Amino acid sequence: MRLDRVSFAKRLAGYSEAVTLPTQPLVEGRLLRMVGLTLEAEGLRAALGSRCLVINDDSYHPVQVEAEVMGFSNGKIFLMPVGSLAGIAPGARVVPLPDTGRLPMGMSMLGRVLDGTGRALDGKGGMKAEDWVPMDGPAINPLNRHPISEPLDVGIRSINGLLTVGRGQRLGLFAGTGVGKSVLLGMMTRFTEADIIVVGLIGERGREVKEFIDEILGHEGLKRSVVVASPADDAPLMRLRAAMYCTRIAEYFRDKGKNVLLLMDSLTRFAQAQREIALAIGEPPATKGYPPSVFARLPKLVERAGNAEKGGGSITAFYTVLSEGDDQQDPIADAARGVLDGHIVLSRRLAEEGHYPAIDIEASISRVMPQVVSAEHMRLAQRFKQLWSRYQQSRDLISVGAYVPGGDADTDLAIARQPAMVKYLRQNLQDNESLESSSAQLAATFNPAAAGA
Ligand SMILES: Nc1ncnc2c1ncn2[C@@H]1O[C@H](COP(=O)(O)OP(=O)(O)OP(=O)(O)O)[C@@H](O)[C@H]1O
Ligand SMILES: [Mg+2]
Repeated sequence: MRLDRVSFAKRLAGYSEAVTLPTQPLVEGRLLRMVGLTLEAEGLRAALGSRCLVINDDSYHPVQVEAEVMGFSNGKIFLMPVGSLAGIAPGARVVPLPDTGRLPMGMSMLGRVLDGTGRALDGKGGMKAEDWVPMDGPAINPLNRHPISEPLDVGIRSINGLLTVGRGQRLGLFAGTGVGKSVLLGMMTRFTEADIIVVGLIGERGREVKEFIDEILGHEGLKRSVVVASPADDAPLMRLRAAMYCTRIAEYFRDKGKNVLLLMDSLTRFAQAQREIALAIGEPPATKGYPPSVFARLPKLVERAGNAEKGGGSITAFYTVLSEGDDQQDPIADAARGVLDGHIVLSRRLAEEGHYPAIDIEASISRVMPQVVSAEHMRLAQRFKQLWSRYQQSRDLISVGAYVPGGDADTDLAIARQPAMVKYLRQNLQDNESLESSSAQLAATFNPAAAGA
């Protein structure tokens, strides 16, 4: 089975529209060998980052797999497959694809679930491509970026009040496994105001994809969302691309003047996909098994979110980051903390106590908060954190009754305010708490009349 280039490109993208592609003659190559995940081909010329089709058409079941050029050496080209390699044999044809790396975009993507190459996963048929855009978005001059100046209501009381998020901010949700990252991300997805939501489910459980769509987004939410899903069992290149693709989609809508909310679960799996690829093509590992290219890719991806130039749209991005074994020194968590504009750390201890969302307000920070809230709000938030910290420090003494009231005025106040503070920090899954009410309740926590509340 041989497809001509035009019908192949159409099929590849799952789009209904005819695509015009150049018709220069193709120079095919042959597959020489495969080592680990890497394919070696010779006889063709293809640029780094371009795509090829590996075709085995001399069997009863012709197979074709898309692969990307990752490197070259001595006339050989190294490729990484996007899909499964079952059925590919030595000597298979390697055909470079024309106009590679361009992705279909359009309003018809809203409400759809796509894979890392733009193919529909939801079986709802073709989409209309309004534009074909390169994978790398247009670079924005950092001096022209509109500064973060407006607060964004995320519907979570403790975040709105104590870690206020700004429109165009890039925030990480850090925690070990099973502490509640995905659930908190889901709550923020439902409550945050945005014109368009782009969700990247990268390298996590396949089961969660459907759950996220049905239970978190729901029918109404999906209408203004695009979901890009590449679960853990996808090829590493597919996961990597899915992360870049959802970022690209967010950029596309931002450049149309929309306020976009980009959610990625998880940034760690993106880094791990890059690690798998880099190690497979021979890059040496450097920090805790991660090759240097991983740390180069992270800021490249994250820097693409943020505000556009003045008057343009924005991308507010939330990334989940797994801090392995609850280790805050994990190299990916560390690198992510450095490039993001804030981090919300979830604590296993709080989760175990049934305190949800398990946000550790002492360890969390929103770097843009001073720019987006009033001085009075900032003061109250700092006071709240101080008292909360004070209580945590004396927690053991207080719980065994060894603390003598009157010893320290702040500790006395912290003890008096503790029930109100816990009440402030906890929130039910269904409750949406607005920015105004979060800030009013923050003030009320210090008001003795509200202490019994
Ligand atoms: N706000 C909440 N209220 C009640 N239960 C919660 C809440 N958040 C999390 N949980 C409980 O914790 C479990 C794990 O949460 P979640 O799947 O969000 O963790 P995660 O950090 O994304 O884990 P992983 O790293 O494995 O993906 C949930 O299945 C739920 O039982
Ligand atoms: Mg999760």
